Amino acid sequence: DEAALAELASALADAETAVALTGAGISAPSGVPTFRGEDGVWGDEFDPEDFRIGRLRRDPAGFWRDRVDLHDRLFPDGVEPNSAHEALASLEAAGRLDAVVTQNTDGFHAAAGSETVLELHGNAARVACVDCGATRPAEPVHERVRTAVEAGDDEALPPTCPDCGGPLKPDVVLFGESLPRSTFQRARAFAADSDVFLAIGSSLEVEPAASLPRRAAAGGTLAIVNLASTRADGRADIRLRADVTDVLPALAARLDAD
Ligand code: APR
Ligand code: ZN
Repeated sequence: DEAALAELASALADAETAVALTGAGISAPSGVPTFRGEDGVWGDEFDPEDFRIGRLRRDPAGFWRDRVDLHDRLFPDGVEPNSAHEALASLEAAGRLDAVVTQNTDGFHAAAGSETVLELHGNAARVACVDCGATRPAEPVHERVRTAVEAGDDEALPPTCPDCGGPLKPDVVLFGESLPRSTFQRARAFAADSDVFLAIGSSLEVEPAASLPRRAAAGGTLAIVNLASTRADGRADIRLRADVTDVLPALAARLDAD
């Protein structure tokens, strides 16, 4: 609503440090499905339990079969950043936003021009070797998996590291894994320093990302932009129950950052 938007715009105008935490909701307008909520992928289509790091060790062929299906469902051909990603990039360029901390693995913030992006859950465009840690583009590996699945050739799974022969994993944080330490420490510092913290398009159900808005609310203004209620609504100073593609471009325009 107008009043909340005006309040958020003036809080950002006065802020020394402003940080955004984004979730799947910011990419939903791009055609990337969310995980929870009515058309979320967790539930009737995919079970998060199937994507734990333990399954990759126990049943690498089954893990990779399901992982490529999930990847293709999350990132259909041609999806790209939307006006909400672009608005955050322009707010940063105008000096109104210092960092974007994202739970998303789609790489859309950097693609839209954001410079300081902290990928808490990694990036699905890469795969990593479980043994030596080497990373490489994911698509050729996905192609090999699709071919192996079509040929019923489980011997070819899991895809292995050309450097050391170790099993490959998506370069994302799987359930049961910890977040990249330095990235999360940096995100915690940003949250603690922020005068304004924007939680955008996230149900704020998953820890430890969801601890960031709590940390930010302790010393600054917490604003939540989300279509549905979130776990942190009770702590929010400003709540905008609206679409990211309405709110964020309007916010950038008010701050002459468009
Ligand atoms: N505008 C604003 N909010 C939206 C929009 C939109 N256009 N579309 C969806 N939303 C909101 C939904 O109402 C929902 O509350 O985005 C939120 C997305 O929540 P989740 O699907 O739970 O996604 P997220 O919070 O990013 O999940 C966190 O869970 O499965 C793990 O690792 C995965 O990073 C993911 C983490
Ligand atoms: Zn390796």
